[in-house]
Amino acid sequence: MAKREDQIVVFDSGVGGISVLRALMQKLPRENFLYFGDSINAPYGTRPTEEIRRLTLERIAALCTANVKAIVIACNTATSAAIEDLRAAYPEKIVIGIEPALKPAADRFPGKTILVMATEATLREEKFSHLMAQCESRCKIVPIPCPELVEAVERNETDAPALEEALRRKLTPHLGKDTAAIVLGCTHFPFARDVIARIAGENVCLIDGSEGTAGQTYRRLEAENLLNLTGEGSVSLQSSLPTPEMLTLMGNLLDR
Ligand code: DGL
Repeated sequence: MAKREDQIVVFDSGVGGISVLRALMQKLPRENFLYFGDSINAPYGTRPTEEIRRLTLERIAALCTANVKAIVIACNTATSAAIEDLRAAYPEKIVIGIEPALKPAADRFPGKTILVMATEATLREEKFSHLMAQCESRCKIVPIPCPELVEAVERNETDAPALEEALRRKLTPHLGKDTAAIVLGCTHFPFARDVIARIAGENVCLIDGSEGTAGQTYRRLEAENLLNLTGEGSVSLQSSLPTPEMLTLMGNLLDR
């Protein structure tokens, strides 16, 4: 039986899911979080689906001990590839995934153009086709794969002029007067918000799914009477690439 003081595992292919962890800690300050970034295998988004699924399932199996009450897959790519398998493998636990925040963007900007920046894997998966089908009668949607941005965040190089130049070339052709929003459909991308905002300009709204995921986690815990109401709150940051540089980067991203 799960207990209120049990841990919540937050998983990503690397450091990106820390953008979701921050939202979770704000919404659920009394919970005990264990964050795991699989940076040694990042990026996931350029790998075949089967491999992403295997990496995710293997890692979650290692993390999912008896004192874990919920698993948050803070990775759009791993969610697309493995969420159904995870729900089937852990029926006794709360399993939450993340998807590009296209629905809230389409609700907010009907009739406008919305760009979706995400990994190649997220954009080619069936889950994303379903999401597009639900929104495309309301707005024009332009999917844009951005693998270079994942690697830049992993290497802590989001200020590099070459990255800005590459993103500018990619985004500018789609930034017209009807472009109202960019969905940051990969959890790494909020850490490159400044460079994206510089290119997009102040009239384009940047939307990510971290708050929606935190809200969903809260509601599921509440529904199952598993909210920790009295704890002090704690967080442990772990990585499959636990170098001093990586652990420093993870700590800095959490504090940002
Ligand atoms: N952070 C992940 C996401 O939300 C993917 C990054 C990667 O390609 O590993 O999709």
